[in-house]
Amino acid sequence: MDISKHGEEIIINPGLEFARQDILNLEPYKPSKEKCSIKLDANESPYDIPLEVKERIWQRLKREKINFYYDPSCDELREELSKYVGVSTEQIFVGSGSDEIISDLLFAFAGPGRDVIIPVPAFSSYEIFATVCGARVIKVPLLLEQKEGFWRWDLDVEAMKKHFSKEQPQMMFLCYPNNPTGDYFSEEKILDLIESFYGIVAVDEAYFEFGRKTFANRLSKYPHVAVIRTFSKVFSMAGLRVGYAIAHESIINQLYKVKLPYNVTLFSQIAAVEILKSLEWVWNLRDELVKSRNELKAELGKMPGIRVYPSSTNFLLCEFEKPRDVVYEKLLEKGILTRKLNGEKLENVLRFCVGSPEQNKVLVDALSQILAE
Ligand SMILES: Cc1ncc(COP(=O)(O)O)c(C=O)c1O
Repeated sequence: MDISKHGEEIIINPGLEFARQDILNLEPYKPSKEKCSIKLDANESPYDIPLEVKERIWQRLKREKINFYYDPSCDELREELSKYVGVSTEQIFVGSGSDEIISDLLFAFAGPGRDVIIPVPAFSSYEIFATVCGARVIKVPLLLEQKEGFWRWDLDVEAMKKHFSKEQPQMMFLCYPNNPTGDYFSEEKILDLIESFYGIVAVDEAYFEFGRKTFANRLSKYPHVAVIRTFSKVFSMAGLRVGYAIAHESIINQLYKVKLPYNVTLFSQIAAVEILKSLEWVWNLRDELVKSRNELKAELGKMPGIRVYPSSTNFLLCEFEKPRDVVYEKLLEKGILTRKLNGEKLENVLRFCVGSPEQNKVLVDALSQILAE
């Protein structure tokens, strides 16, 4: 029913009439649902987890009672994560995907009257959830510079610092390595920013396993840093939604106040525990994806009319001389789904996730045909 009566007033569109003004212009996050034989749009792993790990998960699930709520603080998973990361269980908080970690950090530390500083282009959830929290979003464009023959994106430290203030605690997001640009920002710049910032610095390490640089081992020096990680990339569990934060205990304590009561399902907790017991598989996959990424980058780099940015992740950001919408549509016709991104300096780029060697070959063949037309 889309017409209702409130006293004498007819309300035709309650969604528009009653929505918060500050979320009216938000675009919902809507990934493409195109049916494609090769899906390279969401930086997922091209491989599912091994059957033997699924079997172990299933054996455990069979013994669990699903009529009861499951552990709201994910104790067993935090035990396993504490061994994996090398911090205490009290410094770990688990969420339903790292998206939820991002949103919980913002709920706890941002909000009306507070600023959230985001170097852009960045992962879209930072801006979406910061807006949903009612915080003021300050976007600072990254620098795009040519260094030693390579085009690189890096932080504009001076421009960011202009927005730093000590009047109210602020929040800042640094994605390390950055999605969608693909590589690490310079470490000195990050340290400079962290040391000058009054508030929580969220360092998103969703792609940590591909390059293994981290701030998780510097939390005693920088207790205002919260590291964000996920099981959706090299752990190949995007469908189960598990992410975690690594931070000072006092930060973790605030996250428990804003989280949904039973945010991580029984299934997801058990699956994450089991995949952490199969790290050899994870590291082999990581090596294979890094090798495939380097080969794909080399192949794409040979093609005329395309600039491939450096990457320390499982995806490549590519800029085209041809209109990228044409390239995107032609790839789609050939059954390959890639990602178009919006924003300044992204008008002519596509992002390709690294697939299996067979999928990468199909992409390379398709692109060389399209670019030669
Ligand atoms: C930088 C970054 N952070 C967070 C996420 C969200 O991951 P998830 O919610 O699946 O853990 C992604 C997903 O692509 C990402 O690229």
